[in-house]
Amino acid sequence: MTDAELRKAALAVLRKNRHGAYTVPAIGLYPYQWCWDTGPIVLGWASVGEWDHAWGEVDRLFSAQWPSGMVPHIVFWEESPDYFPGPDVWATGRQPPTTGLTQPPLPVSAAARLFAADPDAARARERLSLLWPRLVAWLRWIERARTGPHLAAVVVHPWESGMDNSPAWDEPLAATPQASHRHLERRDTATVSAKQRPSTLEYRHYLGIVNALKKKQWDTEHQVDDSPFAVEDPAFTAITARAASDLAEIADAAGQDASDVTRIATQARAGLAGLWDDELGWYRAYDVRAGKPTGPATASGLVALYGGVDGAHAQKMVGRLASWSDAVKYSVASSDPHGAGFDPIRYWRGPVWVLVNWLVADGLRNAGLTHEAERLRTETRALVEQGFTEYYDPRDGTGIGGQGFSWSAALTLHWLTEPEPPPDR
Ligand code: GLC
Repeated sequence: MTDAELRKAALAVLRKNRHGAYTVPAIGLYPYQWCWDTGPIVLGWASVGEWDHAWGEVDRLFSAQWPSGMVPHIVFWEESPDYFPGPDVWATGRQPPTTGLTQPPLPVSAAARLFAADPDAARARERLSLLWPRLVAWLRWIERARTGPHLAAVVVHPWESGMDNSPAWDEPLAATPQASHRHLERRDTATVSAKQRPSTLEYRHYLGIVNALKKKQWDTEHQVDDSPFAVEDPAFTAITARAASDLAEIADAAGQDASDVTRIATQARAGLAGLWDDELGWYRAYDVRAGKPTGPATASGLVALYGGVDGAHAQKMVGRLASWSDAVKYSVASSDPHGAGFDPIRYWRGPVWVLVNWLVADGLRNAGLTHEAERLRTETRALVEQGFTEYYDPRDGTGIGGQGFSWSAALTLHWLTEPEPPPDR
């Protein structure tokens, strides 16, 4: 497939998924605006020159920001019968209706990239200056309300990690209350095989945590104490560190003050370092409730690379990763194929995700591991050439999960058909 053919196919997916002033992750399966998906999606729009879509979708997301600074993980811009749990279950009382959880702050880094790459410098400066206080407020909220014992970022629900049913959460999730069957009206398994989705038991726990936080009136300042699930997450921490340092880098050019974001970046990087597990040779989640590290080596630990890590740690992880290839053909499996809980077709328990590959490749490049980064890019291209599915079986590359998935298409436009990241302004 030529670059032009691939771009055309990817753009067709994004256009189809664009809905009003935002782009849904996948028609039917995910019919609203999702928080961290907005990051890669706007990079896709920017790479085809659709700057109004790109800036506009970031603005749209931030227009649903909570007074605390939290940016919600789903914004329910309109009603849809296709998704559970919908706004009535969350009952956050917000307008527009949103969930009461967040997701990794990728849209912050996306805004920084838009600023650096927008050919219209005046527009870039104007759009960014309107967004700046909101971007910083989100990061300050993470710093204030979501810092754990190692100074890493705490997620209070597996959904906040974006890697919903990763084996990294198995232990802490098992200790949370379960909602009754009566409260489960899953819609996801209407379009995707149940074997490729989280289990019903996991959903009962997911809803059990939602109920617990709802009882506390969605008090976003105290969720680390309120939630039965509280885990320091390497990927969330890395993405926070990077978001803050991306803002720090452009602060001068944007005419903004870098002090808050510089402090946040330093703290988050220290937090990430605190999650290194030398015996495992990997960054590892820490269960705040149980007071111990938890789970096998997963994509979350590898995404630490994206936040900027010690070179020796990067080398060690790459060495370990090489041993995965005797069990799977395509990188990066979302969980260690030799580890507990691995399942090659079940969502975040094994399948390859384009977003993870992009974050990891970016981190590898920054760690000077350019050969490994390029290899990952080539492998990812082979996957998306077969279609822009939600994820891929790491054994043979079969596309599975949702069809016509926005970030698989958007990152193809942004990453796989462009030789270099956009130059700094
Ligand atoms: C799933 C994914 C999450 C993503 C969402 C929308 O819940 O686990 O990472 O943001 O779908 O694509």
